[in-house]
Amino acid sequence: MAVDLLLGLQWGDEGKGKIVDVLTSNYNIIARFQGGPNAGHTLEFDGIKHVLRTIPSGIFHKESVNVIGNGVVIDPVVFAKELEGLDQFNIDYKKNLIISRKAHVILPTHRLLDAASEASKGKAKIGSTLKGIGPTYMDKTGRNGIRVGDLELSDWKEKYRALANKHEALIEFYNVDVQYNLKEMEVEFFEAVEVLKTLQFIDSEEYLFQAQKSGKTILAEGAQGSLLDIDFGTYPFVTSSNTTAAGACTGLGVAPNQIGEVYGIFKAYTTRVGSGPFPTELFDEVGEKMAKIGNEFGAVTGRNRRCGWLDLIALKYACQVNGVTKLMMMKGDVLSGFKSLKVCTAYNYKGETITHLPYSIEPENLKPIYTEFKGWKEDLTKMTEEAQFPKELNDYIAFLEKELEIPIQVVSVGPDRKQTIFR
Ligand code: GDP
Ligand code: IMO
Ligand code: MG
Repeated sequence: MAVDLLLGLQWGDEGKGKIVDVLTSNYNIIARFQGGPNAGHTLEFDGIKHVLRTIPSGIFHKESVNVIGNGVVIDPVVFAKELEGLDQFNIDYKKNLIISRKAHVILPTHRLLDAASEASKGKAKIGSTLKGIGPTYMDKTGRNGIRVGDLELSDWKEKYRALANKHEALIEFYNVDVQYNLKEMEVEFFEAVEVLKTLQFIDSEEYLFQAQKSGKTILAEGAQGSLLDIDFGTYPFVTSSNTTAAGACTGLGVAPNQIGEVYGIFKAYTTRVGSGPFPTELFDEVGEKMAKIGNEFGAVTGRNRRCGWLDLIALKYACQVNGVTKLMMMKGDVLSGFKSLKVCTAYNYKGETITHLPYSIEPENLKPIYTEFKGWKEDLTKMTEEAQFPKELNDYIAFLEKELEIPIQVVSVGPDRKQTIFR
């Protein structure tokens, strides 16, 4: 069976967690392929809201197996807290949550290095979630990292000490004010490692290969969004992994010719948290209204999410890079009551009109050109089928489908599992 992918097409927080949860009933296995606890994937059902960080969003379905792939970076401390949060829901995670031995481990000093690096950048800071993501991936590509499989070896603490010592020297090198008590952080860390070790560690690429061979259905879950991709995002204001479709191949060991559907998720408008360019960003009461109605606060850091109109040029780029086969439009309900809606359909780039994403999208060079649409007044949150959609919403959807040349299969009209309309 082919492996289907689900990934975010903007700057993250598109609603991936919600949709993975909705789709899980169609799959035997849900596998996270990159990122780490910088992610916050929200699921809502039965009046309860859950935010998952490292654990795949299929975990609330008893029949599904959830795999944390080799491309993921795991902070045992965050992970242990995540497990604790699941305890009251009777989830048999020792059975249905399994972890790749090749996934890298986030150490306490990686978090400190993240903070030191950001502090040293001053105004040019990335706006990192400070979860140690960048430094951990740096150690991975620098071939210094500690992997989950190492935790099974008797001498892993020696390797840990050597790396932590090196990190402490690096923190000093940054020469910024980062206060910490590593001894205390280590007590928490070593305890959490013991919790992590109670789960099953596997050779996940082999597991997934055999699962595919025996006809099991697999959905790969991405974190962050395409515009935060280390190669294709708004560098350097990106995360440190490949968030795009190729990241699923390297992050799970799935061959490119085994990929089936690529589900691309986007919000009906755009948000971004952290620093970096954002051409369609709104700085007025319209943006404030989106933030308020959309409850646009980061699930991980609680920071305000910056809001703006949908950027079709950036979206098209993301569809291209990922080979998206089906689109899912989230949070359409948030746009109810806006008199008119804008979609960026071209850029003015250094005085010239262009319709592709150029190398630099900094505001001094680039201004969005908009197409305007009539808004809709109707509340979408109680709607259960497409036939109930107002004409203006249908027009908005039809325009996007025509421009992107990809069908919008799902329209999400609220945070709950049930507020999901398949077309
Ligand atoms: P993820 O990181 O892509 O999983 O997305 P987040 O969970 O960080 O952010 C999405 C937020 O929007 C969460 O608070 C969801 O509960 C919420 N959400 C998801 N879909 C919808 C929707 O269609 N309408 C509304 N109003 N909220 C939604
Ligand atoms: P999910 O999976 C939104 C952003 C941070 C920062 C940049 C780098 O919930 O969609 P990092 O901690 O990775 O070094 O931060 O990336 N960022 C996210 N923004 N959603 C996320 O994940 C994000 N993960 C990282 O705000 O700008
Ligand atoms: Mg999120």
